[in-house]
Amino acid sequence: MDKQDPKTDFFVVKALEDGVNVIGLTRGTDTRFHHSEKLDKDEVMIAQFTEHTSAVKVRGKAIIQTSHGQLDNK
Ligand code: TRP
Repeated sequence: MDKQDPKTDFFVVKALEDGVNVIGLTRGTDTRFHHSEKLDKDEVMIAQFTEHTSAVKVRGKAIIQTSHGQLDNK
């Protein structure tokens, strides 16, 4: 079976409290924050890994779903 392009993978973050940060980190040799999205309680962000984003940092209580499974950060 062909492996899916990791850049097209989606992930979902559902905030369980106000002020959860979803921070995108740049792809390539220079790893830095390029975007920070603030979610309030019960807000949901659906996003992809892209040519610009290879890692994501989630700060705060949230439910995170990826193709690898679900993580409840409570
Ligand atoms: N412009 C960004 C990009 O295309 C938007 C983005 C996609 C993003 N996925 C993200 C921002 C994850 C933060 C976290 O890469």
